[in-house]
Amino acid sequence: MSVVVLIGCQWGDEGKGKVVDYFARKADVVVRFQGGNNAGHTLVVAGEQLILHLVPSGILHPNKLCIIGNGVVIDPEVLLEEIELLKAKGHLTDDSRLKISDRAHLILPYHRALDLAAENKKGSAKIGTTGRGIGPSYSDKASRSGLRFGLLKNPDLLKDKLEKAIEEKNQYLTKIFKAEPIDPEKAQKKFNAYSKKLSGYAENTGLLLSRLVKEGKKVLFEGAQGTMLDLDHGTYPFVTSSNTVSANAAIGSGIGPKLIDRIVGVSKAYTTRVGAGPFPTELKDELGEKLRERGGEYGATTGRPRRCGWIDMVQLKYAVRLNSLTDLVVTKLDVLSGIDPLKVCVGYKYKGEPLEDFPAEAEVLEEVEPVYKELKGWKEDINGAKEFKDLPFTARDYLKFIQDELAVPLLAVSVGKEREQIITLGEPF
Ligand code: IMP
Repeated sequence: MSVVVLIGCQWGDEGKGKVVDYFARKADVVVRFQGGNNAGHTLVVAGEQLILHLVPSGILHPNKLCIIGNGVVIDPEVLLEEIELLKAKGHLTDDSRLKISDRAHLILPYHRALDLAAENKKGSAKIGTTGRGIGPSYSDKASRSGLRFGLLKNPDLLKDKLEKAIEEKNQYLTKIFKAEPIDPEKAQKKFNAYSKKLSGYAENTGLLLSRLVKEGKKVLFEGAQGTMLDLDHGTYPFVTSSNTVSANAAIGSGIGPKLIDRIVGVSKAYTTRVGAGPFPTELKDELGEKLRERGGEYGATTGRPRRCGWIDMVQLKYAVRLNSLTDLVVTKLDVLSGIDPLKVCVGYKYKGEPLEDFPAEAEVLEEVEPVYKELKGWKEDINGAKEFKDLPFTARDYLKFIQDELAVPLLAVSVGKEREQIITLGEPF
């Protein structure tokens, strides 16, 4: 196994950052392939917390090559801040360890302004975007008017394109959204500086990655967001603007799909979602509040409180199918300690009838009634568990139930925030 894709199985925030960080120890290359700085991977290294939004978490390990693929949208301001922070903390001492696809699209100042203006205009129909300009940048990519990262290598052409684009977008901003226009001079100045500081990272990363795979290098793809936020298969329109499922690892990086060997899905031991949209197993009571407090369920990017609920087998089975999952990682099992009984959603009913599959319409999902199975909880603190057998009997039962329902083997279980608090049942590569 040399090419492994790691995907979030729920609505994002599954604790992928920590798992990627752990798997990255065994990888040679770590790749981001979709999304942008709407993602936020929280990592705790030697007691110090670090949140990465764009640069793959593999950067925290010496000697790993990190690639930001063509499927990612990049806000140069955020990228530069992140690079500078990593350098200041001694994590990016060698610039050649970070390569960025010349085909990745840029998030421009007007994308952020348009994202916020469009959300504000939606009133009660808000999606709850992170306001980072992700949707507008992907919209421009699809309508073939985007500017790509490789342009930073050609400042004159960039200046020309930026000038025209700002002129056009300012029309939308001022006339349709009644928002402030973008100051062209300020933007040009900033982008001139980005050209100088960031163009050295631009490369044909698809070619590079294909070569590395051929050489037998171990490659880890790091998914951002989660399956239920996928543009096609998620809870549309309450989704992000990229495909978050495993198939996009190939498209978003420039390798062929046959090169992928293994697809690992990450799920929390319960469910959370941030932003608006249907969430069948949501707990709107004290228990939901307890999960939020104990699990520290506040967005890594926006700080918003996350909505919390029971684990959902209908939703996870859908994720297994969409991603062709070969392995499962369950995170934050420790958060469930002391909650008894535990509920697992094993079916949906709509207007009294069972549903066969995850519904397409947000309106239907909003009204489904979850069917629950109760399992016994455990009281013990499991933060120190090192092996599967160290877990209480009922915690093992809970995991076995999930594994059997999904028919996907468990590869690891995370039992705490720290890097070392992970029980592994196999090797990622
Ligand atoms: P956008 O990606 O900023 O356009 O936001 C669209 C939806 O996806 C909103 O509900 C966001 O809260 C959600 N979202 C985007 N990125 C993440 C993430 O990394 N974790 C969880 N939710 C996310």
